[in-house]
Amino acid sequence: MQIRPLSHDESLPMDLLLLADPSKEKVLTYVQSGSCYAAFHEEDVIGVYVLTPLSQHTVEIMNVAVKESWQGKGIGKQLIHHAIAEAKVAGFQAIEIGTGNSSIQQLALYQKCGFRIASIDHGFFLKHYDEPIYENGIQCMDMVRLSLTFQAD
Ligand code: COA
Repeated sequence: MQIRPLSHDESLPMDLLLLADPSKEKVLTYVQSGSCYAAFHEEDVIGVYVLTPLSQHTVEIMNVAVKESWQGKGIGKQLIHHAIAEAKVAGFQAIEIGTGNSSIQQLALYQKCGFRIASIDHGFFLKHYDEPIYENGIQCMDMVRLSLTFQAD
């Protein structure tokens, strides 16, 4: 598997990006201000993430997704570790990610990759998404914000 940034003339894997974020409009907005990375198996895109700067010091993983038939094989973890490495190389001091209160698997994955819960944006998904979202039998209402600050070498 190869993970690399997509160039502007390559098409976006929108089916994958929409797995992580149901709003195409929001996806197109943050992809434009960030970089989209794809994981390839031969010619196929099997994973994706988007890295967007929030400030001079901090970058956010705005989207991460793995093709359904490839999930559970460690690719999500590799994508997160790749994003952390890219953020460090680019000179950022911290990386952030946000997920829903109902996203149990994602909360586990990000903490296994070293992120710690930093804050809760109460009611984020109620305010910003038209349709109610349910996962694991839980309504997705609040955004859990996690961050990882890099140690100075
Ligand atoms: N409890 C504890 N750990 C769990 C878990 C659970 N319920 N579900 C998964 N995990 C762990 C796995 O065990 C694994 O850890 P390990 O390597 O220590 O065993 C870790 O999460 C990552 O698993 P991995 O196989 O790398 O994940 P993946 O390739 O399936 O990708 C997602 C994870 C979230 C990217 C993928 O499921 C996906 O694309 N989901 C849909 C889109 C999405 O929700 N994106 C995130 C938006 S915030």
